[in-house]
Amino acid sequence: MIIPGYGMAVAQAQHIVHEITKTLRDKGVNVRFGIHPVAGRMPGHMNVLLAEAKVPYDIVYEMDEINDDFPKVDVSVIIGANDIVNPSALTDPDGPIGGMPVLECWKGEVSIVLKRSMATGYAGVQNPLFFLDNTRMLFGDAGDTLDKVFKAL
Ligand code: TAP
Repeated sequence: MIIPGYGMAVAQAQHIVHEITKTLRDKGVNVRFGIHPVAGRMPGHMNVLLAEAKVPYDIVYEMDEINDDFPKVDVSVIIGANDIVNPSALTDPDGPIGGMPVLECWKGEVSIVLKRSMATGYAGVQNPLFFLDNTRMLFGDAGDTLDKVFKAL
């Protein structure tokens, strides 16, 4: 499951994301995208970027369509997203993002988070996802990181 956020837009990584998607699908991997309704900075931000990169529509899912699937997901790759995958939205109802539905990737086997640092996102809240045993942090500009991943694939 690929979960894009604002950082994918900053890194302009949508094209390399599509190249990686094609390569993985050619190898028989079931690749899907999970799109949060407020991912990025404007409505439909991620959908526009993925469409621009020609990612097929039929593997791009809205949050409500795939959120129940995470217990069956092997790997979630979170690309420059933060608030939209913050479990404290559910566990801290009085916090700044309390009550916001989020993509519950931590219920999957492993989450790999691509970002440059431990910095907070738009809402300015720490993200406990980054400290879980089944989360791996992959630091760097998402474009540079994914170029290396693509070469390795
Ligand atoms: P954010 O919570 O803002 O997180 C984006 C993350 O991307 C940052 O933590 C940043 O971490 C990382 N990043 C930035 N540049 C990067 C790069 N070049 N390479 C890799 N990572 C990079 O974004 P989100 O998860 O998409 O959530 C959206 C937030 O915006 C929500 O709080 C939402 O309410 C708010 N908002 C949305 C909208 C709409 S309509 N979409 C409108 C206004 C506000 P590093 O600095 O560590 O890299």
